[in-house]
Amino acid sequence: MALWIEKYRPKNFDEVIGQRESVDKLKAMLKKGDIQHMILSGPPGVGKTTCAVVLAVSLFGDKWTQNFMELNASDDRKLSVIQGKVKEFARSRPIDAPFKIILLDEGDSLTQEAQQALRRMMEEYSSTCRFVFSVNYQSNIIEPLQSRCAILRFQPLSKEDVFKFIDWIADSEELTLDNSAKDALEYVSKGDLRALTNLLQSLSNVSKRITGEMVYENAGTIDKGKIKSGLDAAVKGDYIKARKIFEELIGTGVNMKELLSEIFDVVISDEDVIDRRVRSYVVEKLAETDYRIIEGATPYIQFQAFLAFLSTLKH
Ligand SMILES: Nc1ncnc2c1ncn2[C@@H]1O[C@H](COP(=O)(O)OP(=O)(O)OP(=O)(O)O)[C@@H](O)[C@H]1O
Ligand SMILES: [Mg+2]
Repeated sequence: MALWIEKYRPKNFDEVIGQRESVDKLKAMLKKGDIQHMILSGPPGVGKTTCAVVLAVSLFGDKWTQNFMELNASDDRKLSVIQGKVKEFARSRPIDAPFKIILLDEGDSLTQEAQQALRRMMEEYSSTCRFVFSVNYQSNIIEPLQSRCAILRFQPLSKEDVFKFIDWIADSEELTLDNSAKDALEYVSKGDLRALTNLLQSLSNVSKRITGEMVYENAGTIDKGKIKSGLDAAVKGDYIKARKIFEELIGTGVNMKELLSEIFDVVISDEDVIDRRVRSYVVEKLAETDYRIIEGATPYIQFQAFLAFLSTLKH
């Protein structure tokens, strides 16, 4: 069964929903036949990787796979990889093209050393290679890299755009969705079209008629394994990794209050994750976060503050 996130990935710039400003800049580069080093910055699932791939395909045609390399977060991000695989690709001659493109997807997770090495490579090989970083937070890229790149900001998609995307899939998959279902999808996915598409595909296996209730029910199931690995990363001081794991969870439409109570379960029942000596602090902080959310503070920010607290426990 084909994954809808691939099936409905835009094949050209005109199929990209929203992101007019960034798309216009990319189109202008395409017209000139030359591109700058770039940072594509923005929240998950709004078209950063998609646009980088569309750019490569438009520039290189059927030679695109030979002139384009993607390094994603599942690859090793250590210095040795940058100095090996990436350098090898960057210095070798482009095939029927003026330059190659290296996409460092989820560039947030590159180590400082790796970024320093890239900084030198960007200068050394600028005649044969362009570097494109895709990041959720521009601030995770070191200053000297930022200053060498054009920054393209990808915006959270508007509700209208998200609805347009839902309609597109619903039409071609012959699904029926009422307005409450669309509202629910937009709400639980927070504008992340990848999360939204995955959720819609799994719902379509249940029924061709999709209701708001179905969306919330399906989005509510929380993966305990992920919670454990997220907490584990946080208490080991790896805030970036922890944030990534929880953002993926939240992106699947997990409700924040439910998430907190699941975390509570893990904290009090699983010694492997939270050491007994710090458990009472964590529970206290969790209770505080819960209270603030009930009082009306922004759940997302409160949750980030909780994670940040966890990742300082190590010290
Ligand atoms: N602007 C968009 N227009 C149309 N489809 C989109 C758009 N943004 C995302 N999508 C859909 O969501 C999927 C994921 O998008 P993409 O991989 O480009 O996200 P991303 O911005 O790179 O996210 P991440 O930060 O998580 O890497 C695509 O396959 C596509 O189906
Ligand atoms: Mg991406």
